[in-house]
Amino acid sequence: MSTDTLPNPGKSPEKPAGELIRLEQVTKRFGDNTVLDHLDFSVAAGKHVTLIGPSGSGKTTILRLLMTLLKPDEGTITVDGQQLFPANEKQRREVRKQIGMVFQQFNLFPNMTVLRNITEAPVTVLGLSKDEAVERAKELLDMVGLADKCDAHPAQLSGGQQQRVAIARALAMRPKVLLLDEVTSALDPELVAGVLDLLRDIARSTDITMLCVTHEMNFARDISDQVLMFDSGRVIEAGAPEKIFSEPEHDRTREFLSAVL
Ligand SMILES: Nc1ncnc2c1ncn2[C@@H]1O[C@H](COP(=O)(O)OP(=O)(O)O)[C@@H](O)[C@H]1O
Ligand SMILES: [Mg+2]
Repeated sequence: MSTDTLPNPGKSPEKPAGELIRLEQVTKRFGDNTVLDHLDFSVAAGKHVTLIGPSGSGKTTILRLLMTLLKPDEGTITVDGQQLFPANEKQRREVRKQIGMVFQQFNLFPNMTVLRNITEAPVTVLGLSKDEAVERAKELLDMVGLADKCDAHPAQLSGGQQQRVAIARALAMRPKVLLLDEVTSALDPELVAGVLDLLRDIARSTDITMLCVTHEMNFARDISDQVLMFDSGRVIEAGAPEKIFSEPEHDRTREFLSAVL
């Protein structure tokens, strides 16, 4: 039976207090490549969790599953006690509204102005009036330091500015969860610090739960409550950043850190 034909499972009764995201026994395959193999993990509300690990270890796949850009082959994904998978399309759309994502390549709508990039989803998905959406967008553009770029198109902005717009666009949905996938990896080196500072501010000043993939280890150390080290689709080590970065237990973690630090 396809997961889409399951009845609406509604609230799951066993959500532990404070838990916002839960993956249970999640398996994802691409052809005969099993990328995630019965993966379990959970993230408490308001926490900042960083996923580290070698390229190809499944980090982006996890974020794309949460964003519903991919479907798991097996397992359950729950957000704030409501199932994202398995779920019918209507429920999935509802649950998905609580999640925002910022991508490595910005992924702004190139044909829309900066303002419209930010107001589009709040109007079409959340049903805000155009005025409300514009007001919210302007506050966010102010926060990310781009109040004067409302009418610009993405191609007229630097990579750092485009990424700030993408962050504002994600926040405009007032998500409970913000997914960040190597958001500074495509930036020129001199633009990285500004975007990381903005994300530090957001981490400090909001209660948004953050799930972050990054190779910026100083940033990860600053903002993370927990670091998960992935290898071949499994969490091989998890702990506070001080522990993972200073006294990793696994050889694999040590090797990875010595390559990126
Ligand atoms: N759309 C896809 N089709 C086929 N294979 C994919 C696809 N996306 C990811 N993969 C494979 O899944 C594995 C994990 O990829 P990914 O989650 O992107 O890793 P990471 O983000 O940790 O570098 C890799 O082997 C990758 O080649
Ligand atoms: Mg990736």
